[in-house]
Amino acid sequence: WDKEPCGKEVTVSTKLYKDAKDFYESVDESLHDDTVMYEVYSVSSQSEPGKLNWGLTVMHPVKVNGECNMTRGHFHENMDCEEYYWCSKGTGLLMLMDEEGKCWCEKMYEGSLHHIRSDWAHRLINTGDTYLKVVACWPADAGHDYARIEHSGFTYRVYCEGKDIIVKERRTNE
Ligand code: 6PG
Ligand code: NI
Repeated sequence: WDKEPCGKEVTVSTKLYKDAKDFYESVDESLHDDTVMYEVYSVSSQSEPGKLNWGLTVMHPVKVNGECNMTRGHFHENMDCEEYYWCSKGTGLLMLMDEEGKCWCEKMYEGSLHHIRSDWAHRLINTGDTYLKVVACWPADAGHDYARIEHSGFTYRVYCEGKDIIVKERRTNE
């Protein structure tokens, strides 16, 4: 699966635990550095207005000391660019944050459709014990602003304890 009928190339980028460690509250010594956290399959266009990108994010059912597997999360660099997420498998949360730092979540389940406003940061969280698969479509000139999330990150952390999902406010000294 490397060329779609539309003739576009599908590229895969894989996020390993060693490159995701700093997303989490604490380091989980039981996880290997090369544990796959998520893969993003994408078809990208030249970053011109009017063009679209398409992607599939596959979140593995991994916990980091009980904290649910999540994407790095980002604002779009071009704050005029919105996005759609559609959950094709699994269960999770879409964490959203506005520019004032107000943070909230939408539940994701098979078939749920999510509209991400152009000025909202977004992060996927797999709360289940199966893969969470999310299809996305966004403008090719959106870009990713990760730095902004590193400076003023999402306010909440999500943990799984058995069947319970626990949402905790981040410590202010993080
Ligand atoms: C995008 C999409 C999506 C996202 C992946 C990985 O704007 O490209 O929101 O493809 O990039 O789900 O998430 P991170 O880029 O935050 O790691
Ligand atoms: Ni995005």
